[in-house]
Amino acid sequence: MGEVDPAFIQDTQHRPKLAVIEAEGIPLIDLSSANASNHVSQIADACKNWGFFQVINHGVPSESRRKIEDAARKFFALPLEEKRKVSRDEVNPFGYFDTEHTKNVRDWKEVFDIVASSPAFIPASPNPDDKELEKLINQWPQYPPELREVCEEYAREMEKLAVNLLGLLSLSLGLPENRFNLLFEESTNFIRLNHYPPCSIPHLALGIGRHKDSGALTFLAQDDVGGLEVKRKTDGEWVRVKPTPDAYIINVGDIVQVWSNDTYESVEHRVMVNSERERFSIPFVLSPGHHVWVKPLEELTKGEKPKYRAYNWGKFFVTRRRSNFKKLDVENLQISHFRVSE
Ligand code: OGA
Ligand code: NI
Repeated sequence: MGEVDPAFIQDTQHRPKLAVIEAEGIPLIDLSSANASNHVSQIADACKNWGFFQVINHGVPSESRRKIEDAARKFFALPLEEKRKVSRDEVNPFGYFDTEHTKNVRDWKEVFDIVASSPAFIPASPNPDDKELEKLINQWPQYPPELREVCEEYAREMEKLAVNLLGLLSLSLGLPENRFNLLFEESTNFIRLNHYPPCSIPHLALGIGRHKDSGALTFLAQDDVGGLEVKRKTDGEWVRVKPTPDAYIINVGDIVQVWSNDTYESVEHRVMVNSERERFSIPFVLSPGHHVWVKPLEELTKGEKPKYRAYNWGKFFVTRRRSNFKKLDVENLQISHFRVSE
């Protein structure tokens, strides 16, 4: 690569440290039924202490995962003009794009976004008075031809794991196992294929800049290259999550933070890139229906003041997506904007 676009350059205080700290102690939870009596308390501890954990024996067939990983590699290997035939735009938020800006700095990555449960609906515009809805439509490239089928199969498998985790999460908060089920009717779950190409300036740029995930829970499949860093709650250091073959990395998103009235916090994370190896990852983002008003659950705020005002998930999603699409002069919409002042 010749001249590097200055849009990729992070401010000094956000640049990656080349001396990586490997995370010790991110909980690894074995979801096999033999261990079932421990799951709820393991999840409560993991969500409180880290906001991140890994699961193994999670029930997602490794074959489904391998197939989507192979198809993603084939797709990203296409020439740019082929990938751009399925580009997202300001109106359709799903498809290919390589210009995402996190906190207004460009990420060193390209992505392909797919809605998991089709048909799904989102508001047609961020305007709160506009009640029009838009049907989310996946765009499928001609090549690789199996992409659609493998994504649909993977989505079905991930939704099973997500329902299971949501039940455990609910129990860990002292709620009935099915407390969240209704909220996920007409869910806006999506799958993102991420490709981080080798980077000529790994000390200046990031694959994804520091951010919190705005959904309820994220389930990440990362390959063996590694690069995901999470902000350790005890001391605020960036620590790297070591790849565990076939595991999922699960993290608390902003919606769970609001529902739990800050009992479980959404933790910042980012991705380092390197100059030699490309990296692939596949997050599955569990998110409710567009009609859901996200607010602290009444059962969890008994005797306590709710820390957030309600916000409409669909409008939040559409506003955020549009603003990440290009560089803006203002900060992105965040849940902190709905925080009630003390
Ligand atoms: C994300 C994310 C991490 C990764 O897509 O929100 O944090 O390792 N991805 O790709
Ligand atoms: Ni993320």
